[in-house]
Amino acid sequence: MTTNEEVNSLIRTQAYINGTWVSAARGATFEVVNPANGNVVASVTDMDASDVRKAIDAANAAWPAYRDLTAKERAGLLKKWYALMMEHKEELARLMTMECGKVLAESRGEVDYGASFIEWFAEEARRSYGDVIPAHTKDRRLVVVKQSIGVVAAITPWNFPLAMITRKVGPALAAGSPVVVKPPSETPLTGLAIAYLAEKAGFPPGVYNTITTTRNTEVGEELCGNNKVRKLSFTGSTAVGKILMKQCASNLKKISLELGGNAPFIVFDDADVDAAVKGAMISKFRNNGQTCVCANRLYVQDGIYEEFVAKLSKAVSALKVGNGLDTDSQMGPLINEKGLKKVKQHLADAVSKGARVMVGGNEMDGLFFEPTVLTDVTPEMVITQEEVFGPVAPVSRFSTEEEVIRLANDTPYGLASYFFSRDVSRCWRVAEALEYGMVGINDGLISTEVAPFGGVKESGIGREGSKYGMDYYMEIKYLCFGGINS
Ligand code: SIN
Repeated sequence: MTTNEEVNSLIRTQAYINGTWVSAARGATFEVVNPANGNVVASVTDMDASDVRKAIDAANAAWPAYRDLTAKERAGLLKKWYALMMEHKEELARLMTMECGKVLAESRGEVDYGASFIEWFAEEARRSYGDVIPAHTKDRRLVVVKQSIGVVAAITPWNFPLAMITRKVGPALAAGSPVVVKPPSETPLTGLAIAYLAEKAGFPPGVYNTITTTRNTEVGEELCGNNKVRKLSFTGSTAVGKILMKQCASNLKKISLELGGNAPFIVFDDADVDAAVKGAMISKFRNNGQTCVCANRLYVQDGIYEEFVAKLSKAVSALKVGNGLDTDSQMGPLINEKGLKKVKQHLADAVSKGARVMVGGNEMDGLFFEPTVLTDVTPEMVITQEEVFGPVAPVSRFSTEEEVIRLANDTPYGLASYFFSRDVSRCWRVAEALEYGMVGINDGLISTEVAPFGGVKESGIGREGSKYGMDYYMEIKYLCFGGINS
């Protein structure tokens, strides 16, 4: 049984810069509020651009010595950090639930998921091989080496307070790059807790920095505009990603962007309907519908439409909504008023245009909203065009494979997509035709540290995790050895 004291022992309210816990020069703070009950969890230091510059300077100063460690030494630090996260899994999970509202089972899952990136990239650190290229003349030898890119800034979202940090800093630290992390103001405590564990793991001062702020515009401008930051990695909305990309253009900073999605979830007549319902439940309602890869549009073929809707509605009506710390809760609150308002607006728009509410559809106390199934959904409804980021499953009917592929691809986004079918040829055809970075085939949960996560079109740039992940934190250098006597 984890005690409140054990959870509290991980709470840090100052920022972590150059191996020291520090407050904002201005002395400002902001409150972190539990979305399940409105209680203040902690007051955290609120930094501005001048504080952030100190973190960047510290990271830049730490870079030469850190990149000169052997890959094995860097891997050793990451492994220690991973072990500490697992040792404190329960406390981290509880803290995460307290600040972002997700239910405890999901928070525990996120600690495993988030820590897995650290373990994975500890292993990958020792495999960042270069190449020897057959030379174009007899007296030359051509070699390619991969080197650390330099200081990395990571701007991360509230929906995965731990995993979105580790998915960025894991490859950066493995590659020899110091980091400046900016967790979101809604959920800074998990980010600060893992900074504390990074300190305990023994990363040298300046290698791991975490700054907390509500001054997103000013701090974003500093992270993008500062020449000492060589790489920006951001997870969040497409709108903000575009602003950051413009700002990074001023110094041609390298960027990785993991942005919004509008995931189609397609169920063909030949699917295993029970498996498809199970897949839809996890894909749509994971984290209360607040992930970039949540099913946002469910398309179900004529022949199994009624059966699928009935089974989905039954499963959704059985979901238990409540405070994430209560062991029987399966879905927590939305993150804030803005999130709740968006869900209500999308629902009202859909209903006004003819959608039918099969289950749910109502606001509950505070930031809680009933898990909802909508049918008769059409492309004119806003809910099919934008991420709802909440517990509403909009279902549409379709007739042919060609029609549904057209509907699925008719969006500026291209992050995750899903479909269910038992026809092998169709599986290949549809997987190849979907314009998305990720396709779940007969599966509603596809995220793992071993596979590349990322999108096409306006869903982003780059891939995170997997054997490809480290390349985004390294520069390729070509060495040409001339005058070789053979
Ligand atoms: C996200 O919502 O941005 C990440 C989801 C995941 O890693 O599965």
